[in-house]
Amino acid sequence: MNVMVTGGAGYIGSHAVQRLLRDGNTVLCVDNLYRGHAEAMAALEPEAGGRLTFAEADTGDREKMKSLLKEHQIDTVMHFAALAYVGESVTEPLVYYRNNAASALSLIQACDAVGVQRFVFSSTCATYGEPSEEFIPIPETCPQNPINPYGRSKLHVEHMLFDYAHACQLKGKPFGFAALRYFNVSGSDRTGVIGEDHTPETHLIPVVLQAALGIRDSITIFGTDYATPDGTCVRDYIHVEDLIDAHACVMGDLKPGDTRTYNLGIGKGYSVREIIDSCKRVTGKDFEIKEGQRRPGDPPSLYANPAKILGGLGWKASITDLDENIASAWNWFKNHPEGYGS
Ligand code: UFG
Repeated sequence: MNVMVTGGAGYIGSHAVQRLLRDGNTVLCVDNLYRGHAEAMAALEPEAGGRLTFAEADTGDREKMKSLLKEHQIDTVMHFAALAYVGESVTEPLVYYRNNAASALSLIQACDAVGVQRFVFSSTCATYGEPSEEFIPIPETCPQNPINPYGRSKLHVEHMLFDYAHACQLKGKPFGFAALRYFNVSGSDRTGVIGEDHTPETHLIPVVLQAALGIRDSITIFGTDYATPDGTCVRDYIHVEDLIDAHACVMGDLKPGDTRTYNLGIGKGYSVREIIDSCKRVTGKDFEIKEGQRRPGDPPSLYANPAKILGGLGWKASITDLDENIASAWNWFKNHPEGYGS
């Protein structure tokens, strides 16, 4: 297939580019390099064999997207490009609506203009907000009530895709999409050439591994008084290669008229303390742990019910062992303590 990967120079997008190349697809990576890394593309070039093209462009530039889609005869778009800091979305909501919602609209309009038939959208469990007890573990039928602009910006895109796909059905125009709602993505690729490099880094596993490396003096647990088994927040950590495997699986099955949603998680939650303990085991390092206040907007427990994608496509995560997941992240961080700049 000829696949456009937006945000392909970012953490998750670069793993998608790598996997699509390995599967023999022709890949056009589009990234504005605002938070992506040109180095990720350079690292992937050896396995590209001429099938990878990089375009530095913004998905909000509709005319540019149109010409790229046309020129590269794209049949499938995987849309990862987005801003993804919940806290930042609260202080800069308009930036999030511009980058995540309005840019996606421009991209979908460009797809409409040239007749792209398949669209795989990077959505998030943040669209669920704070689910009530009866919806934990979270199924796709859980009501979507996001509690921050990040979650809302992603939900807007889901709505656009539903409405557009419906209109396509009415007009007999072939178009199908899948919105994949990610839980907490972690780990890095087996060969260790690409990995997670965010500035600033706020995600739990990278932050703890930076403490193990001595880059940070300590790690602070945000809240120890939650109604969870050990008082700290519980999350579902899916390995990035498993996440992308699900994308490949969905892409191969997507047909015109499809309006699919799947939760992508392992179906099991780990607490912040369990993550820290695993990082200590895997790295063999000790570091200071502080107990701090709750971080505003953090729901106590979020983990997926992954039954729908298992039942529908036979897909499930292969890495459910926490130490295996952390070891994979450590493989990247210990060799790239300063990220791609190392
Ligand atoms: N945490 C700490 N200390 C830290 C960093 C994080 O205790 O230094 C805790 C958080 O409070 C949270 C858990 O670790 O309870 C995980 O936090 P992350 O920041 O790693 O991830 P989030 O669950 O907040 O966010 C992730 C994605 C978002 C997505 C969200 C959906 O990064 O993009 O899940 O809930 F929107």
